[in-house]
Amino acid sequence: MSEKVAVYRKENFNAAHRLFNPAWDFATNDKVFGKCNNPNYHGHNYELIVKLTGEIDADTGYVYDLKTLSDIIKENVIEKFDHKNLNEDTAEFKNLIPTAENIAVVIYNTLRAKISVKYTLQVRLYETAKNFVEYPA
Ligand code: NI
Repeated sequence: MSEKVAVYRKENFNAAHRLFNPAWDFATNDKVFGKCNNPNYHGHNYELIVKLTGEIDADTGYVYDLKTLSDIIKENVIEKFDHKNLNEDTAEFKNLIPTAENIAVVIYNTLRAKISVKYTLQVRLYETAKNFVEYPA
């Protein structure tokens, strides 16, 4: 009994951000980030998919209780980022550009600390229906 199975939990949060590098002038930021450099910020409806891979527990038949996973995501990620301005309201992005890539890494590191290392963890974050990132790659 060492079959590995992946289980997934999907959550959503809405947040505003601005992509800019404070080390660059506005023109350079405008060239690199375009509309995402709008000084007044803009929002996304983020879709987060958390994947856990592990062995099926003989007692429960579960790899991981998805209600527990949902609670961990809500308490540690959604409550922190939902309806926030990522640049202004969160410590994580005070000095880190809140791209989907960086948000995914921050979410992964947050969840990794809460979930046993016996499970493989991967985070997929949709910024739009067509643009999404995965970490670890
Ligand atoms: Ni954006």
